[in-house]
Formats: sequence, structure tokens, C-alpha cells
Amino acid sequence: MGFTVLVLGATGKTGRRVIPQLVQRGVTVRAAGRTPVPERDGVEAARFDWQDEGTYQTALDGVDAVYVVGGHLSDSVSNPTAPAEAFFGRMADAGVRRVVLLSASGVDDVPDPENILRRFELFVEGSGIPSTILRPGVFMQNFSESNAPPSTARIRERSEIALPGGDVPVSYISTVDVAAVAAAALTEDGHEGKGYALTGPEALTLPQVAELISAAVGRTVRHVETRPEEGIRDVLLADGATVEYAEYVARLYVMSVRSGYGTDGSAMTGLPAEDFTTITGRPMTTFAEFTKGAADAWR
Ligand SMILES: NC(=O)c1ccc[n+]([C@@H]2O[C@H](COP(=O)([O-])OP(=O)(O)OC[C@H]3O[C@@H](n4cnc5c(N)ncnc54)[C@H](OP(=O)(O)O)[C@@H]3O)[C@@H](O)[C@H]2O)c1
Repeated sequence: MGFTVLVLGATGKTGRRVIPQLVQRGVTVRAAGRTPVPERDGVEAARFDWQDEGTYQTALDGVDAVYVVGGHLSDSVSNPTAPAEAFFGRMADAGVRRVVLLSASGVDDVPDPENILRRFELFVEGSGIPSTILRPGVFMQNFSESNAPPSTARIRERSEIALPGGDVPVSYISTVDVAAVAAAALTEDGHEGKGYALTGPEALTLPQVAELISAAVGRTVRHVETRPEEGIRDVLLADGATVEYAEYVARLYVMSVRSGYGTDGSAMTGLPAEDFTTITGRPMTTFAEFTKGAADAWR
């Protein structure tokens, strides 16, 4: 019998990269979200909308493991706990044997009862299903695939990275690497009950990030300091986001960055690099490697 993995957020920064890594491991992927994903060998598509409970069962039918991405729920739903609770209830009934949850760095250290990701963590832990929680720091791909600050369009059009905390070194992680750990935890034994803090291989300040992006695109991109928290919220509001969403992202960003460095200013590390290599069979992606692959986004 084959092994089928339901991947939520299949078009997203991590979900889209989990899919090929699962296919490579020989499992069938059910790629789910509101935007259909093209079907191909080893990949079937399912419609899944957190706001439409009617889509949950079809997505879950016959599935062995689930990659859960749901933190964006606070963007669009006034009571995000209700769909999460309904989905986890059905997941247990559907006989799912393994869950990997995408959470975020610091969610367990600074538990905020209002934080949807903490709610998801508690649902996963209480589900009785063998599970692994991924708590990544800030994604490298926020610079190349995001409307939220630092906004890829702003880097491309104004050559500016407008973010607060420029002097703070942050260990950005590639979503390719997050996806690699997810694919291992979804298909192999030994990751159950674990929470992996995932940070990248080197800590960089925003001026250093700007230099690496400049080198990759062949023109000067500079960092522009904004006010903490309000800076992110205001840019999102100007882009048409709801107040709730703008405040949620601002809080999450500040929390992720804060948890990414120690009080002495030194960068904190998550899963040690050698453990990452043991799990995935390769070293972590550096920021310079990431910029080479992503340069077209800034041209
Ligand atoms: N960005 C970071 O630096 C970072 C760091 C740590 C943790 N995280 C966490 O990672 C998660 C993903 O964040 P991201 O910014 O990287 O987003 P993303 O995964 O790139 O995009 C969100 C995904 O969710 C899907 N989606 C959105 N609304 C949906 C709905 N109502 N029903 C079903 N699917 C829906 C979207 O596809 P469709 O629109 O096609 O449905 C898309 O595939 C969040 O929980 C975030 O807190 C992010």
C-alpha cells in the first residue's frame, strides 16, 4: 500500500517545496489549497479552504500524514480557533498517522494564548497523533516572494529593504531547508514528539542582507530602518491588509526576530547544522546561495 501525504498551503513558500521532496521520497502527495496545483505523476490536487469546512473531509480521505500550514488563518477568519479545532477533530477520525505542523520560532518560549500558532501547537499536541512541530525563524524567501515587508516589489522597484532592527543579526532560513526537514519528519520514524527550532547557517544584519542581494542583482539595494512593529503594520495597512492581519504579522515578526538572537547580541542557533545534515543528507542553504537562485525576483 502506498503512503499519501496531504500538504496544506501547497502554493506557499514551504508547501510548494515540500511537494517535490516528498515525490522524490516515493510517496503520493495530495496538494491542497484554494488555488489548484497542477496534477502530475505522484501529485494529486484537492481543494482545501480553512473557511469552508465542507472541503476538510475530501482532503483527508485516505491520507496517512498531513503537513499543516494554518498560521495565516488570523488573516481572514474572526474566530480562527473554530476551523482549527474542526480540522484536528476530523484528522484524528480519518486515521492520520503522522502530523508535521509549521509553527514559528518563539511560539513555545513566549506563549501568547491569542496566538493562532500556539493554538495549533496545542491542538497537535492534544490530538494523540504522532507529531512534529517545526519552529522556523524568519524565511529568506520573505525577501523574494512576499507582499508583506520587506516586500519583494519594493526591493525590485525602489531598491530598498524597509524593515526595523537592521543592526540585529538574524539567522534567516531557506524554506527549501524547512521543507527538507518537513519531508523527513512526514515520512521517517524518529521525529515524533519533537519540536525543531530551525534557523539558518549564519546570522546577518539587514545591511549585510542588502549587500548580498546587491551582489546577486548587480545594483545597489540598501536597507532603510523603520520603526519597530509599527513600521511593519503601517506598510501592510498601506498595502490594503486588515488591521488584525497587519498587527498579527507585526507581532509575529518582532517575536521571530527577538527569539533569533541572544541578549548579548549574538545570534542564537536552532537545530545544530550537523543535525540538519543528519536529517536531510545535505548542508543548510546559505543566504548567498539563496540570492543566486532568487535574483530574478529583484530584477
Ligand atoms: N514568513 C516567515 O518568515 C515565517 C517564519 C516562521 C513561520 N512562518 C509561518 O509560516 C506559515 C506560512 O506563512 P507564509 O508567509 O510562508 O505563507 P505561505 O505558506 O507562503 O502562504 C500561505 C499558504 O496558505 C494558503 N492559504 C491561505 N489562506 C488559506 C485558506 N483560507 N485556506 C486554505 N489555504 C489557505 C495559500 O494558498 P491559497 O491562497 O492558494 O489557498 C498559501 O499556499 C504561517 O503560519 C507563518 O506564521 C512564517
